[in-house]
Amino acid sequence: MFVTLNVDLGVRSYPILIGGGLLSRRDLLEPHLRHRDVLVVTNDVVGPIYLEPVRALLAGSRVATAVLPDGEQHKTMATVNRVLDALVEARFGRDCVVLALGGGVVGDIAGFAASIYQRGVDFIQVPTTLLAQVDSAVGGKTGVNHPGGKNLLGAFHQPICVLSDTDTLHTLPDRELAAGCAEVVKYGLIADGELFAWLEAQAEALLRRDPAALGHVIRRSCELKAEIVGQDEREHGRRALLNLGHTFGHAIELQAGYGEWLHGEAVAAGTCMAAEFSARLGAVDPLEVDRIRRLFRRLHLPVSPPAADPGKFLSAMGMDKKVVAGQIRLVLLDSIGSARITGDYPSHELVDYLREQFVR
Ligand code: NAD
Ligand code: GLY
Repeated sequence: MFVTLNVDLGVRSYPILIGGGLLSRRDLLEPHLRHRDVLVVTNDVVGPIYLEPVRALLAGSRVATAVLPDGEQHKTMATVNRVLDALVEARFGRDCVVLALGGGVVGDIAGFAASIYQRGVDFIQVPTTLLAQVDSAVGGKTGVNHPGGKNLLGAFHQPICVLSDTDTLHTLPDRELAAGCAEVVKYGLIADGELFAWLEAQAEALLRRDPAALGHVIRRSCELKAEIVGQDEREHGRRALLNLGHTFGHAIELQAGYGEWLHGEAVAAGTCMAAEFSARLGAVDPLEVDRIRRLFRRLHLPVSPPAADPGKFLSAMGMDKKVVAGQIRLVLLDSIGSARITGDYPSHELVDYLREQFVR
């Protein structure tokens, strides 16, 4: 049994297939491959577990592989070059397909390489982390980090198919599963108060990897993301809501050193900061901020950032892609289930908030 959702983007529309056992379903990828050459991009943790089953799915295609070193610290242009080298070495043409097998790091690197190889070739996402299945594999944001800022280099390049085999989540470490939950909480906060309440009721089932609970959050998250991306593919408006907590979170990742804090952990602490700042501006009820902190704690996620210099933290926030004319635009929470993006707040409030946060 699996469900199919659709990302509606005209000629670039594509399906998201979600279910158990999909890595043994050759029939699902065949219509997208049609015997074309495939470069499978994976890493040295995921490859040993899932490369063979994926190879079996690709019988009928000429297959090359690029096995990257694991970790956020390798989400760089140097690693993108390794993927491009593999494509050139295999002498793959414009009709080839790049298949990303792994979490968000592999997906972002492989997608970016696909976006620039011969001015753009098709790519397929086979996400194997909760975070990638609920968020990064959908929506076409691809790219890598720069020492000066998170995800600063990249391109919009939609996949032609997303195949999420939920069975792959059984081998995921607990800490990574929890990190994926942070992005699910985000969807509840920006667009679906019922999902947030469901998480409050089912947090433990999710952490135990109850299949029904996992299926529910992956499906609901993808529905919400597909709807938002369908309305605003290039983030001219509503899509920016998906970055709730990310401006603070990206600063945490940069300050701590890429890979020290998991992306989802930084998003959890960053979301608490965004919620606290929203309460400070009178936008959200402080009691709702307490609910958010309580849920993250139950999901084994951090609710505050590591120690930092407030000036350096603010400067790191200033490298975010949502900065317009020097003003840091933030996603502020109005209530659980409703948020808005704005640069319309007194700058000194942010400076004061960070000073109080870090100088205790
Ligand atoms: P990740 O890709 O680093 O994967 C987490 C860890 O789990 C890695 O060590 C990986 O090798 C391992 N792993 C993956 N699948 C596994 C499996 N099934 N079994 C065992 N181990 C497995 O991290 P992530 O949380 O998936 O992704 C984080 C990245 O995604 C960040 O770089 C973030 O910026 C990016 N991201 C991108 C978007 C987007 O829209 N493109 C959205 C959100 C996050
Ligand atoms: N993860 C944010 C986005 O896809 O827009």
